[in-house]
Amino acid sequence: MAQINELIKQMTLEEKAALCTGTSAWTTMLIERLGVPEMTVSDGPHGVRHVTDVQALNAQSLPATCFPTASCLASTWNADLIGEMGKALAEECIAQKVDVLLGPGVNMKRTPLGGRNFEYFSEDPFLAGEMAASLVKGVQSKGVGTSLKHFAANNQECRRLAISADIDERTLREIYLPAFETVVKKAKPWTVMCAYNKINGTYCSENYKLLVDILKKEWGFEGLVVSDWGAVHDRVASLKGGLDLEMPGPKELRVKAVVEAVHSGVIEESVLDESVRRILGVVFKAAETPKGGQFDLAAHHALARRIAAEGMVLLKNNGILPLKNPQHIAVIGRAAKTPYFEGGGSSQVNPATLDIPFNELQKLAGDVELNYSEGYSSDGSFQQGLIDEAVISAKSAEVALLYVALPDTKESEGYDRSDLDLTPQQVALIKAVTSVQPKTVVILNNGAPVVMSDWIDNTAAVLEAWMMGQAGGGAIADLLYGKVNPSGKLSETFPLKWADTPAYINYPGTIGEVRYGEGIFIGYRYYDTKAMPVLFPFGYGESYTTFAYSSPRVSATRFKDVDGLTASVDVSNTGKVAGKEVVQFYVHDHKASLIRPPKELKGFAKVELQPGETKTVTVHLDFRAFAFYHPSYQQWITEDGEFDILIGASAADIRFSKTVSLQSTLELPCILNRESSIRDWLNDPRGKPVIDPFIQDMMAQMAHLFGADGREGKPLDVETMGIMDMPLLSVFDFRERDLPMPADDLVDSLLRQVYATTK
Ligand code: BGC
Repeated sequence: MAQINELIKQMTLEEKAALCTGTSAWTTMLIERLGVPEMTVSDGPHGVRHVTDVQALNAQSLPATCFPTASCLASTWNADLIGEMGKALAEECIAQKVDVLLGPGVNMKRTPLGGRNFEYFSEDPFLAGEMAASLVKGVQSKGVGTSLKHFAANNQECRRLAISADIDERTLREIYLPAFETVVKKAKPWTVMCAYNKINGTYCSENYKLLVDILKKEWGFEGLVVSDWGAVHDRVASLKGGLDLEMPGPKELRVKAVVEAVHSGVIEESVLDESVRRILGVVFKAAETPKGGQFDLAAHHALARRIAAEGMVLLKNNGILPLKNPQHIAVIGRAAKTPYFEGGGSSQVNPATLDIPFNELQKLAGDVELNYSEGYSSDGSFQQGLIDEAVISAKSAEVALLYVALPDTKESEGYDRSDLDLTPQQVALIKAVTSVQPKTVVILNNGAPVVMSDWIDNTAAVLEAWMMGQAGGGAIADLLYGKVNPSGKLSETFPLKWADTPAYINYPGTIGEVRYGEGIFIGYRYYDTKAMPVLFPFGYGESYTTFAYSSPRVSATRFKDVDGLTASVDVSNTGKVAGKEVVQFYVHDHKASLIRPPKELKGFAKVELQPGETKTVTVHLDFRAFAFYHPSYQQWITEDGEFDILIGASAADIRFSKTVSLQSTLELPCILNRESSIRDWLNDPRGKPVIDPFIQDMMAQMAHLFGADGREGKPLDVETMGIMDMPLLSVFDFRERDLPMPADDLVDSLLRQVYATTK
């Protein structure tokens, strides 16, 4: 630190300004005379995309392991496994001389249409935060940096470079920021990448509140903030807003503008120095890790296969899986021979090797005849001939395995999906094949939900294989043959149809803005609240074995918010094969002063069990598990009262509920003001005694007018008077004649009394 400060003193203003902008698409500035090394960054997030020609944005990158994308990673619910992946990514970065990997992305899946949803973890901030934190820790444990992106509220690709995500404060804090917050606090990423979009009218790249107040000050982020590529519009404003490093470069005019701004006093040099300090901190840290050498490709490929197998989700199984050695299998669908393993855009990895699902299946099938038919073409056109061919093959087989992947261009950075559908050809194919072959297993490749109501009933089984990375073909075979027992669970809800989804009415917004009108109710929070049926709920996935839950317990039934509590349950494998179960802990608040979702995920654990084995699963639920963000207090608060700890196998399969009673230790500041309602005053321990005499007086007068039994047989009290939600000032206004002074003076004087008793 002292050394860095010393160095900053030796730098010229021009050097400082230049250091804050890249010198190429992927590198920062080398300052030879001061011994400041260059730093190389590369995408990210599920593999290293190291473009050796640093001036080129989209050139072919060096071969690297393409791991499954984040939808699949999150569906493993196995944070340790994702930590291992992080270490492997770091080894590849080191071998390829990359200092910082540009990922992971933890934006929330607000709408299933989001073009980049495959790169993101979940619709739930807790799950996304935990999984991403583990990935970051894994990468950084080897001395390679990460870039947590895209900060924040980059939840659609449509008009992403200019759109303003208009979000109320509570929604931002409870839904769109917590995954970032968890990773920043738990894993300390070296860098955070700001998003392209605006939030409430201000570009994220110039957003002081976001980058400085929240990220750097409130969460204590010590690394550097880098722009998304091309997200800077006004370099001086962005420096002031807390954006340290602009990428890509070079941008000579912008550097000049910064120098001039310092000269003219538009920006203080100390602001620039702070960014330089942060950049140098990361640059020197990166330089401590010697680069070069080899990585173990075979080991990473095997890891990618394990992760893929653990993240794939068995959505339906009538018992056909695992396969019972069928002797004649129809393998249908292009995806069996042309794997769909990653999405389009900056995350596109050049896979070091690529498993072909058909070949991997053949390896496990041994001598069994696999009869392949294409089923659908690459261009998405309707071709009855391909369907007819598949039907003939399926009819004469014992089992049909139908590999269906979304068209290549459907899921990509830069644009959103237009619908949640498979192609008409694929739907017709599934219907035709299942009508002649009841033993049909559909294997899906997609990075985000597709709708299935039209065809799922006639299938024997459905496996969600996601964008499965380079080793996914083998993972599918492992699952179909039962070499691996499926243990993935959905990290996002699969809706019945697009029109059911929470952002439906507000997406994609108008020209300049998209209003997050559904507020905190995204994903299962929305479907739960509306008690809506879905295709598959959040947290759902089947196994080849069965699990029984027993002995739910909590460490305390009455507890203080600051202490939190632990919740446990015993889980037994009651089936015949070993398996892993994902146990989920949700919290339900009985009553709160603001509306809350029926339940929110606050803990989970994945446990491996042999047949007949029982293990105890325990999670700790801390202050934040019970708190909500209160915009009036501008902080996370807890309120005294009862909560249910819901323990389940999915959001729709809650096995136990334990009721506990929380005691809040918060001393909240008084927020009564001229607009506060009678309810606000009565709910405030300092306000109540102050207005009680007035209320009683008013009630006495009402009783005098209407009789103590009230009007129309209703007892007379403030509730039945219908004035609870009227501002005290308005109520006084109506009764001005009975007051000792004008209504507003009276309210002001009562407020003074209240504030005199508070700090
Ligand atoms: C993407 C980032 C990526 C960057 C560099 C941008 O278009 O949004 O995720 O890291 O390009 O390729």
